[in-house]
Amino acid sequence: MEKIGSGAEAVIYLDKDNVIKDRISKSYRLPEIDTKLRRSRTRREAKVIEKLNSIGVPGPKLISMDDNSMKISMSHIKGSKVRDVLAENPIELCKEIGKKVAKLHFNGIIHADLTTSNMILSDEIYFIDFGLSFFSDKAEDKAVDLHLLDRALESRHFSLYPSCWKAVLEGYEKEYNESGLVLKRLEKVESRGRNKGK
Ligand SMILES: Nc1ncnc2c1ncn2[C@@H]1O[C@H](COP(=O)(O)OP(=O)(O)O)[C@@H](O)[C@H]1O
Ligand SMILES: [Mg+2]
Repeated sequence: MEKIGSGAEAVIYLDKDNVIKDRISKSYRLPEIDTKLRRSRTRREAKVIEKLNSIGVPGPKLISMDDNSMKISMSHIKGSKVRDVLAENPIELCKEIGKKVAKLHFNGIIHADLTTSNMILSDEIYFIDFGLSFFSDKAEDKAVDLHLLDRALESRHFSLYPSCWKAVLEGYEKEYNESGLVLKRLEKVESRGRNKGK
């Protein structure tokens, strides 16, 4: 098995055509809390990945999940992180991102870590890293999800900003009939952000 990545949360191995996500323990957490967190994130990620397949949003296919060893086995998506290729075609890619986030949202899935490092461009854009995801139909949760993406685009892709964010919103609105409610809420979330620390 070849190690292909290690994030804050997990070590990622490639095992033939599959990816193994091994949620490692963190010594700075109390052991009981550490086990609880890793277990809930492992379960959650597996659950959301399964749901993705049923709503037609591109993501990995779940192969297996073990909430004792805290490992998930899923299909390997071949491609580049959107983070590394966004500049090649920012407007089209961002529209696609907006449309796909809309699809997640109207199916009640909040990703909760929408960054371009958690998207892989293959034949189309695939989402990964659902360990913080949850199910919700609240406009507030959807608005916060979008707000985090907005922040991530501004900090990671400063030279493409704000046109890339506008393209995300354009895609989102196009794909989602009830986007108006979420976008109205987003204004509130943004103003909360601006007032923080003042
Ligand atoms: N199914 C997958 N297919 C291809 N690459 C993956 C897959 N899952 C994870 N990776 C790679 O491993 C990295 C870390 O995985 P991720 O699920 O984002 O974990 P973390 O929570 O540590 O960020 C990703 O940025 C990506 O490069
Ligand atoms: Mg990640």
